[in-house]
Amino acid sequence: MQLSEQNKYTIQGIEPAELVEKFGSPLYVYDGGTIRRKVNELKHAFSGVNMKIKYACKANTNLAVLRLMREIGVELDVVSPGEFEMGKLAGYAGNQITFTPSGVPFAEVQAAVEAGAIVNVDSIPLLEWFGQTYGNTKPCLIRIKPNVAAGGNIKIMTAHADSKFGISVLLIDQILAVVKKYDLKIIGLHQHTGSDIKDAEPFLQVADILFATAKHFPDLEIIDLGGGFKVSYQPGDAVTDMELLGNKISERFKNFCDEYGRELQLWFEPGKFLVSESGYLLTTSTVVKEDPARNFVHIDSGLNHLIRPMMYGSYHHILNTSNPAGEEKLYNVVGYICETDTFATDRKLPEVSQGDILAFLNAGAYGFTMSSNYNARFRPAEVLVDHEEAKLVRRRETLEDLLRTQM
Ligand code: LLP
Repeated sequence: MQLSEQNKYTIQGIEPAELVEKFGSPLYVYDGGTIRRKVNELKHAFSGVNMKIKYACKANTNLAVLRLMREIGVELDVVSPGEFEMGKLAGYAGNQITFTPSGVPFAEVQAAVEAGAIVNVDSIPLLEWFGQTYGNTKPCLIRIKPNVAAGGNIKIMTAHADSKFGISVLLIDQILAVVKKYDLKIIGLHQHTGSDIKDAEPFLQVADILFATAKHFPDLEIIDLGGGFKVSYQPGDAVTDMELLGNKISERFKNFCDEYGRELQLWFEPGKFLVSESGYLLTTSTVVKEDPARNFVHIDSGLNHLIRPMMYGSYHHILNTSNPAGEEKLYNVVGYICETDTFATDRKLPEVSQGDILAFLNAGAYGFTMSSNYNARFRPAEVLVDHEEAKLVRRRETLEDLLRTQM
């Protein structure tokens, strides 16, 4: 969102108030230009190697976003049959989609493989099943757990020793025994460290672990280092230095390929990095309560629409787009769900009046996709702004949507 010289916030020239007037409040808005910019930034940082982006679409599965990704040459990483089908609906071919399951029923893996997807096998039992079912007729990747602890908070770390994800690198002998038993065609090694990782160090550490593990597998084509790049949630937040990371990883990757004797593909599966910054949750202030303890701003939304603050204690920057130059005051910004439902505590905001439009930043990743119907509330509509045009890409829910599956 830009602040113009006339002190007006706009998304590609369109004011939040215009969007709310046309599409209602609360409203998720995505800026396609930001998504294009982030994709280019990542491509540029790794331009020295054969790098492929597999967008981790759990971050945002709106079909308009998926189609945009496809148009700009980004492939997909999915974690469920539902995400796989959405990828297909957005025009992806099965073989452009990677399925990265976490202990799912094997029937889900079977369906994905048969639809052409490539799978990151995440357990020894699944590897056994894969061998029994396909032998060496279908290739797969193995998801390694490197036992490295990194990420913004413990809930979003996925590679430490206690994490449920992947097959521990310490079990390499067991992995190799299963591979040998079924003559499995292992074409890649995968790992995903976690989310909100700022420093290059953990990425280098896990890369080295995969490179070392790769020596046991002669037919590799792919090293997949997952996602997890840190984005800026607060003004002035430190973020992953993409250029630096790109240089460091590319250099090591090239050395690894030289030693391995073949040029491999380097895959990444970012979610947040590609879409977080592109999204805004526009909400409207319903009540401003001047309580002796605190000033409360109530809004027409809650943890049912954006759960990150309540789930992870995450910070989301908030703009009062209706009064950008107002005198700053401290507020608790709270949602309408009948539970403690706090978006922000003691947040400095330009004075808020009833009816003001508050915009939550970084709402493009894990916003709508983690939303719910708690308190029988409807999910918001979604709008994509691209080429200076705002398009409704999901209508707001109604009571009928809530009742559709009830008997
Ligand atoms: N690859 C795999 C296998 C993953 O599990 C994830 C995220 C990603 C890639 C993408 O990670 P990213 O680049 O978005 O950090 N809901 C949490 C984040 C959980 C991410 C789970 N896995 C949040 O809102 O912070």
